[in-house]
Amino acid sequence: MIEVSKLVEDLTVRHNRFLISILEDIQEHYNYLPEEALVEVAKRLDIPTRDVYGVATFYHFFSLTPKGKHIITVCLGTACHVRGGERIVDTVSRELGIKVGETTEDLKYTLETVNCLGACALGPVVVINNEYHGQMTKAKAVRLLKEIKKTERGEEDE
Ligand code: FES
Repeated sequence: MIEVSKLVEDLTVRHNRFLISILEDIQEHYNYLPEEALVEVAKRLDIPTRDVYGVATFYHFFSLTPKGKHIITVCLGTACHVRGGERIVDTVSRELGIKVGETTEDLKYTLETVNCLGACALGPVVVINNEYHGQMTKAKAVRLLKEIKKTERGEEDE
C-alpha cells in the first residue's frame, strides 16, 4: 500500500491544497481517515491538526474509525420508520452480528442508519455500497446480504 506521506503529498498537489477534497480521497483510499494521515495533512497544509480534525468530525460522511468494505445504511426517517425501517435494521443487525454503527471484525460490513435519504416514497430504503434499494422487506434484506456474502466467498476462493 502506498505510504501515507506520499499519498498526502500527491493529494495536496492534485487538489490544490483543498482540505475537503484531500480528506475525501484519503477516506476513499483507506475507507476511513487514519490519524497518521490527518497529522500528515496538517503538516503539508501548514495548519493546526485540530483544524483538520474539526473538518473531519464536522461532516458525517467522514469516519475516524475503519469501516467495512460494504456499507449498509438503513433509513429510519419518518416515512421509512412507519413502513418498518426498524425491522430492517434488526434483520441486518442479526444477519451480520453487529449493532448500528459497528463494523464486523473482518472489516467486511458496516451497519449505519440515517434520518432520510431523500427517497421517502420508496421506503423503507436501504443503501448498500451507494446503491439504493427501495420497498425493503426483511426477506429482501436477507437475500441481498446473502448475495454479497456469496460474492465475498467467491473472491476469497480466487
Ligand atoms: S424517510 Fe427514508 S428516504 Fe426519506
